[in-house]
Amino acid sequence: MKNELLAERAALFLGDAAHVAQVLAPDSIDSIVTDPPAGIGFMGREWDSDRGGREQWIGWLAGVMREALYVLKPGGHALVWALPRTSHWTATALEDAGFEVRDIIMHLFGTGFPKSLDVAQAIDKQRDDRQAILAVTRWIAEARDRAGLTNAQIDAVFGLNGMAGHWTTQGAQPYVPHEDYWPTLLELLGVNEVPEEIRSLAERLISDKGKPGPDWFRRPVTGTHTAAAAGTRWRANNGFKSNPTPSSRRDVPATDAARKWQGWGTALKPAAEHWILARKPLAGTVAKNVLHHGTGALNIDGCRTLERPSSSRTTDGGLGRWPSNVTLDEDAAALLPGSASRVCYVAKPSRAERDAGCQHLPRRTGAEACGRTEDSAGLKSPRAGANSGGGHNFHPTVKSIALMRWLCRLVTPPGGVVLDLFAGSGSTGIAALADGFEFIGIEREPEYLALARARIEHALEQARREVTP
Ligand SMILES: C[S@@+](CC[C@H](N)C(=O)[O-])C[C@H]1O[C@@H](n2cnc3c(N)ncnc32)[C@H](O)[C@@H]1O
Repeated sequence: MKNELLAERAALFLGDAAHVAQVLAPDSIDSIVTDPPAGIGFMGREWDSDRGGREQWIGWLAGVMREALYVLKPGGHALVWALPRTSHWTATALEDAGFEVRDIIMHLFGTGFPKSLDVAQAIDKQRDDRQAILAVTRWIAEARDRAGLTNAQIDAVFGLNGMAGHWTTQGAQPYVPHEDYWPTLLELLGVNEVPEEIRSLAERLISDKGKPGPDWFRRPVTGTHTAAAAGTRWRANNGFKSNPTPSSRRDVPATDAARKWQGWGTALKPAAEHWILARKPLAGTVAKNVLHHGTGALNIDGCRTLERPSSSRTTDGGLGRWPSNVTLDEDAAALLPGSASRVCYVAKPSRAERDAGCQHLPRRTGAEACGRTEDSAGLKSPRAGANSGGGHNFHPTVKSIALMRWLCRLVTPPGGVVLDLFAGSGSTGIAALADGFEFIGIEREPEYLALARARIEHALEQARREVTP
């Protein structure tokens, strides 16, 4: 792992977090605050892949966290980000690594975009082409048998894995070959002329693929799709290719079945992320652990509000409320009565906050920042933060510094060392340094590490200027 030491109180390592125990001393770290990949293939990113499935992903994170446990002081806390959908994987990995899961802090936000299927629309869009598809696959299967070929031999010619089975089945998933495959397929099957009935069926099925079925077009046109129009504008403003013709709205169901399921969907609006609070086993009692290692406890008084402790005196004359396992961004806070927002509110990362220190780096559009050429639900995901709009800091999942400060403060003793195993563009580092902690960050991608270095150096420089007028 390559060490990029920053001048003051911070070190960044380029490399794999799984090797953290090779570069840091055992029992040397006071807290871990980290935002790891969620295993959902976020925006097609390789670093967020599920590594082949649930067991593999949990095994991978448990491996990293086992190494991290080794460098953490006894009783040291870890706060590990997780998406509600896969947070049980993250919690399992933490337990498998030897941590004790203590709580889950739920951060609520208002920017999420529901990725739900409209069930009534899906019903009216259905195409019932099964009989036609089966006629084509039956014909291909017969031709295959006449030619004395196996599905494996057909697959081998196309470099495919199992597709010939779909092209020749009468079973669950019959599939008509893509038009590009037909010339080679016919040559392979020794067929000079396809019967007219099969040829026209195959042509129709290929051209109708992905198009809504006839019931959809029985729905009256009720206007233009405003979401599509807004999406089109958004894409144009953010460097994506945009389709200038918004689609027609057809909101009124055409069939009884669709009427019955009108108003049903498949997903909720995402409005929460989890921070799993885990602790390395204590050496003895809490009191002994705290006295000997400085770790093992939570900084309750330092976290009674999300502002700094000095400004946290409230009108009741006390220190404010006991910190809870719920935090809110401004959109979520706006939905709640004032007292709740006063205690729990935390600002979203603004464009200025994300870009500070990165102005010398080229600005990327939303499309470039997300590595996508088209609009996609991923870009509207809360995971993208507001960063899908692009900027100098092109990391797609930048965290709010206010939130990261509160989290660091909750689990780190004064002057302690915070470790982020998945540093990204360095938000945890900026937060840790702002509260007087030391910071060690690990990041695998050089271009993200460069962002982290630029942002952290800028924050340190700012702090220096504030101290030296
Ligand atoms: C969710 S992002 C963290 C973003 C960060 N919170 C921020 O505010 O910029 C996770 C990061 O982990 C990095 N990563 C993935 N696998 C890694 C590994 N094995 N070791 C180190 N970093 C890794 C990715 O490149 C990505 O930047």
